[in-house]
Amino acid sequence: MAWAITKSELDHKNLLINESLLSLGNGYLGVRGNFEEGYDSDFQSIRGTYINAFHDETEITYGEKQYAFPDKQQKLLNVIDAQTVQIYVDGDRFSLFSGEIVSFERTLHLDKGYSERKIHWKSPNGKEVQMEFRRLVSFVTRELFAIDIKIEPLNDVNELKIISRVDGDVSNFTDENDPRVASGHAKRLFVSEAKMTEGFTAIKDTTFETQLDVTCITSTCVDKEGSYNNYISDSVIEEEYKVKGPVRFSKYNVYTDSLRYGENVLEEGIKIQHRLANLSFEELMSEQKEYLDNFWKLTDVKIDGDKSLQEGIRFNLYQLLQSVGKDPISNIASKGLSGEGYEGHYFWDTEIYMLPVFLMTNPAIAKNLLLHRYSLLNSARERAREMGHENGALFPWRTITGGESSAFFPAGTAQYHINADIAYSYIQYYLVTRDEEFLKDYMVEVLVETARLWIDTGHFKDGQFRIDDVTGPDEYTCIVNNNYYTNVMAKHNLLWAVKVFRHLKETNKIEELSNQLNLNADEVELWEEAGEKMFLPYDENLGIHAQDDSFLKKARWNLENTNKENFPLLLHYHPLTLYRYQVCKQADTVLGHFLLEDEADIDTIRQSYDYYEAITTHDSSLSYCVFSIMASKLGYEKKAYSYFNKTARLDLENRHGNTKDGLHMANMGGAWLAIVYGFAGLRVKESGLSMHPRLPKQWNALEFHLRFRGRVIQIKMENDIVCYTLVEGNNLTIQHREEEIHLEQGIEIRK
Ligand code: BGC
Repeated sequence: MAWAITKSELDHKNLLINESLLSLGNGYLGVRGNFEEGYDSDFQSIRGTYINAFHDETEITYGEKQYAFPDKQQKLLNVIDAQTVQIYVDGDRFSLFSGEIVSFERTLHLDKGYSERKIHWKSPNGKEVQMEFRRLVSFVTRELFAIDIKIEPLNDVNELKIISRVDGDVSNFTDENDPRVASGHAKRLFVSEAKMTEGFTAIKDTTFETQLDVTCITSTCVDKEGSYNNYISDSVIEEEYKVKGPVRFSKYNVYTDSLRYGENVLEEGIKIQHRLANLSFEELMSEQKEYLDNFWKLTDVKIDGDKSLQEGIRFNLYQLLQSVGKDPISNIASKGLSGEGYEGHYFWDTEIYMLPVFLMTNPAIAKNLLLHRYSLLNSARERAREMGHENGALFPWRTITGGESSAFFPAGTAQYHINADIAYSYIQYYLVTRDEEFLKDYMVEVLVETARLWIDTGHFKDGQFRIDDVTGPDEYTCIVNNNYYTNVMAKHNLLWAVKVFRHLKETNKIEELSNQLNLNADEVELWEEAGEKMFLPYDENLGIHAQDDSFLKKARWNLENTNKENFPLLLHYHPLTLYRYQVCKQADTVLGHFLLEDEADIDTIRQSYDYYEAITTHDSSLSYCVFSIMASKLGYEKKAYSYFNKTARLDLENRHGNTKDGLHMANMGGAWLAIVYGFAGLRVKESGLSMHPRLPKQWNALEFHLRFRGRVIQIKMENDIVCYTLVEGNNLTIQHREEEIHLEQGIEIRK
């Protein structure tokens, strides 16, 4: 149940949205859910195929360029288009915009990992065919995007003509009026080769600036005798089959890129094609199913009591899997591989909203994300120097390969909290895995370099450590002194850097590292002092943490009287207008209270929640989930549920109005967080794992698994009872509310 996203009508108004929703991917390759045969010219399509991290660099043009503004921006590219298959039924070209659609159904199978369209079509000349299109992007052979089409004539049809096309002349999508989408530099690839080779079509494209290559090697076949021809132009290869039906056509497209394969992109693609030669589409589907069975076994979240939320959470988890990079040069873009919004960039979204999902369900994927960030550490060091810091590393706000790609520094580079977010995710990884090797090999360096940056950025004044002129998560309030979120996260970062230093010292592992990182005990003491004296703005009258030094002195934005059409505010007001008011785009202080709940007492947390909730627009999709989690903590059951509702189906219902540009991946991670950290009350701290379950009363039951220090724990919440079962691993003590419970394999503990 709820394993399929089905559209049973051809919805012309939502074609673009459905392209994102029905996109397929595997973390390396992503293909939007476009129709093989295309649309009518009246309808816009963002026809897209993307390879994670495959990018070009473009110049950033500024009216008034200031010192250390980035010159270049990276951009994920729409690569060679292999989606096209045109079908002619006795000369009538098949299109869902002509003739008659007798029946139509389109499905994305979340458990089987493929999408399909089933169509009964009557051509303008009365010829009828039943067609079934299936496609998958393989989780097993990551380079493969396969299409399988069955065509069955239903009345007297003499000839079926199938034209399969691969097009190297591709561009990116642009929109000048939306800052969340690129406004220029649409064309960044040229075709450097187009030929037939070893029975395959082969197209190679090269980027303008970075000189990266991407190839698409395609094999096609039909299961019927008939005629075959091919046509090669500078940028397009077409293969034409003419048969008398019924017929089955298949098209295997293999994508390779020079980031992963160096100079031999083409040869590698051909090799992969040869390996696939004997694999039928059914065999691909069964490999895919096996992979997904394995994934869902421990990642599924079962909600008993609401089918549509069940569908929502599964869809989100599936899309996270489809988007997350699984090799050392890729991460997870804010739109995954489903669209071009935010140009394929990686943000703090990864560490705070998505990584925890993988950490608790698929730690190997989480580790890869951390290692990818680690690979950007040298660029972050360079960026820190450019920004005038003598020490430390400053991670870019948005990037693909490490260069800062944000041209709007107030809501970009100024978000220094990304450093502490990255540090936080390393600490969480360590707390969940206790991986000492990882701590020594990677974590210590990241913590040291980020701690150094805080010392270089902040200063001591009147006995406090203060951090001026940064931007917190809320992008409607920029360049402020002492943003609570930033300061509390920096404090955690600094004190953990100290802790890790001392831990390694105790285990006699620090000497070599000290030389390597040029570390000394005085420096570590300074981190400790800065951490302990970190200024956390607090308003005595309101009993809340102030978002920053000046926030509470500003006028409040009148949200009740703001015209509905003016949301999101960022599309209707100059940034300065927004900065002058108390109005939040997203959770800021409230997020700080979630991530580091022991830094505030419960009254402050409650009062802050009430205060900030009233002035938050949730114009960023990263917001609802945090409010849901904290509402759960505070016992605001209705609110927790209502925010979760907005989160769980945000893209399925296009709640932010821009799903066409790609899925909101951080929100998708956030929906899982709202269940597991919200309703089930998970926290992982130095003391271990704890749960504070509160099952929404609308549900009969909730069930999921967590991985923790080599164990697998099953958690079932049913009415007022919570059952914990250790499914794998050694005995473990965890905390259930205020009580310690001991788990032994196979024994269910009911609470
Ligand atoms: C949010 C940021 C987020 C970015 C990418 C923006 O709208 O305000 O917090 O990192 O989107 O998802």
